[in-house]
Amino acid sequence: MSNKVAIIVGSVLGATEYVAEAVENCLKDKGYEPQVFLAPNIDDIPTDVEWLICTSTHGAGDLPDNIVPFANALNNVDLSSHKARIIGLGDSSYDTYCYGAMTMEKKLIAAGSTLVTPVHTIDVLHHPIPEDEAVKWVNENY
Ligand SMILES: Cc1cc2nc3c(=O)[nH]c(=O)nc-3n(C[C@H](O)[C@H](O)[C@H](O)COP(=O)(O)O)c2cc1C
Repeated sequence: MSNKVAIIVGSVLGATEYVAEAVENCLKDKGYEPQVFLAPNIDDIPTDVEWLICTSTHGAGDLPDNIVPFANALNNVDLSSHKARIIGLGDSSYDTYCYGAMTMEKKLIAAGSTLVTPVHTIDVLHHPIPEDEAVKWVNENY
């Protein structure tokens, strides 16, 4: 099985970029070969490796602008026999807590991908250093 992981980032203010960077380093330490995509374009991202989507939620439950084209492109790809995982950053004081991550989950499943683990949500209201939570989750799940 490939040890490559495409880390696909949706972020407005940068917190999720820090999470992706911490996860990248953690995966490297564990012997994986991660590659981070900060401006994800479906044409650049291999589909024969596992994906780890790291995305926040903005607006009123919306995806960050930088990941919207990628998310829309998922409507037109066949991800049968593909595997993915999702880390969502959000703030539980919003009714639309982590809706961005949930949107990605729906799109991946509709495209045929299989989620290896349940969506891992990180509530920035209770976890001021979300990358610590993310690294803990990676250590427990990879
Ligand atoms: C204008 C604004 C709108 C937001 N809307 C939501 C939301 O609808 N749901 C949610 O869970 N979090 C929401 N958040 C919280 C962000 O997801 C959270 O601050 C996250 O850490 C931002 O990550 P980023 O810096 O990678 O964009 C919002 C934050 C801002 C500033």
